[in-house]
Amino acid sequence: MNKLAPSKLTQSPAWKALQAHQAEIAKVHMRELYARSPERAQQFSLEAGALLLDYSKHRVTDTTLRLLGDLARQAGVEAWRARMFAGEHINTSEDRAVLHVALRSGLKVFPAGGDVMPLVRKARESMRAFSDAVRGGRMLGHSGKPMRTVINIGIGGSDLGPRMLVQALWGHADAPQSVHFVANADPDDLARALAQAQPETTLIIVASKTFTTGETLANARLARSWLTQGLGSEAAVIKHFAAATANVKAAAEFGIAPEMCLPLWDWVGGRYSVWSSVGLPVAIAIGMDRFEELLAGARAMDEHFLAAPLEANMPVLLALLGIWYTNFFGAETHAVLPYAEALRELPAYLQQLEMESNGKSVDRDGQPVDYATVPVVWGAVGTNSQHAFHQMLHQGTHLVPCDFLVPVATTGAAAENALAQSAALLSGKEASLPQQRFDGNRPSSTILFKNLDPHTMGQLLALYEHKVFVQGIIWNINSFDQWGVELGKEIARTLAAQPAAGAAVAALDASTNALFARLRRWRS
Ligand code: F6P
Repeated sequence: MNKLAPSKLTQSPAWKALQAHQAEIAKVHMRELYARSPERAQQFSLEAGALLLDYSKHRVTDTTLRLLGDLARQAGVEAWRARMFAGEHINTSEDRAVLHVALRSGLKVFPAGGDVMPLVRKARESMRAFSDAVRGGRMLGHSGKPMRTVINIGIGGSDLGPRMLVQALWGHADAPQSVHFVANADPDDLARALAQAQPETTLIIVASKTFTTGETLANARLARSWLTQGLGSEAAVIKHFAAATANVKAAAEFGIAPEMCLPLWDWVGGRYSVWSSVGLPVAIAIGMDRFEELLAGARAMDEHFLAAPLEANMPVLLALLGIWYTNFFGAETHAVLPYAEALRELPAYLQQLEMESNGKSVDRDGQPVDYATVPVVWGAVGTNSQHAFHQMLHQGTHLVPCDFLVPVATTGAAAENALAQSAALLSGKEASLPQQRFDGNRPSSTILFKNLDPHTMGQLLALYEHKVFVQGIIWNINSFDQWGVELGKEIARTLAAQPAAGAAVAALDASTNALFARLRRWRS
């Protein structure tokens, strides 16, 4: 690879100061930092709403945080934040505003000068009417029976958010319907969901901002055949299919009735859309009042993000700590470890949020970057994760900063286990046998929250959204496009459209052509 031209960022005074400081901090064990200042735990912890962030188990001092704060200021985080909230087209490659924050806004007019709130309020009313009708048994199918099963067909941002929240908030779900999610191009996914459903009583929501996504449309067509065959009538579609989409025309062409279409707009990115009508399955499961609590929680985090000084701003702190390890310690991955079964789907959700947003290697001006951007985000629910990969977290050769997410109201010893893990990562343990030695000095954040309720989930998700935003600003990349998913889609379409078995696709490499020929042969 050619050597990249030095960027403004890596040449900047704040960056250079952090590089020099890292050389000092790298020599110090966190145990020593605690010995020097036992009050670290209080000093490096921050409360915002229902969340307590303990960031004392990091390889940082006052100086580190001051220098990281300088980096954020130098990047203009505050000005960019204002630009996002003002509805400026900060998604420059698609010339779009980034206004998912409007979806949870309580303001009468927002953003100033380009009001989207009338649309947002109307959409919330539609969601309420729709979810109330389903939950109350007033939405009737083709043969006059109420809906018993809801199947959401969508992928990426049109799946991961609602899927994760229906799981996270199952303790608050009181709908008579069961709610299922189908995403995969593999028809097994849909078959599994349909196996538990009856056509007469099944509502299918097609969630697709663009209404062009291959997997979603293929699954929607299969589901439509299942329904019309089961009910013996094409007319059944208008009663059993709904959509959350910005492409009302395509939804209508599919056969979805206008009154069954809930809106979405180009100023909401897919991975930021759970607050919109994409959240409909959540509203059906827990009711619109609780969905509004989720929005209120996110709003509370938005207000904190807007008002708190950078050094006491939770999303900014998480962003800066991530940058500290990614760019100055060479950490290539980041683990998310929720200690609650209900949060099982959260790592996958955060994976899309962080990696689709910030998995970029050119800056906002299209110049290649000479620094690392988003690390691999991965994780699994604790305590299961402890018996799978924590060995590597404690004794492996990679530095893996961890986020422990700990709702304290869960019974059992999950929360205690989370604390035990972060303590072990921090302190380590001496032993005469090298195999039994733990070096410690492995950083982690702990986010404690009292309850796993809609309001708290709203805060937590908005926290990570703003963390991603701040990192994108500092890395000088556009966090709101995702061109990197297009090429694979294009090639898949070419392969799927290839009529003659054995014919090579001229535009493709020999390896892919050989595999494709084998695939065709084995299939036939
Ligand atoms: O392929 C990536 C992506 O565009 C995501 O950004 C998006 O969340 C997902 O596909 C689904 O898109 P849509 O909602 O338009 O079907």
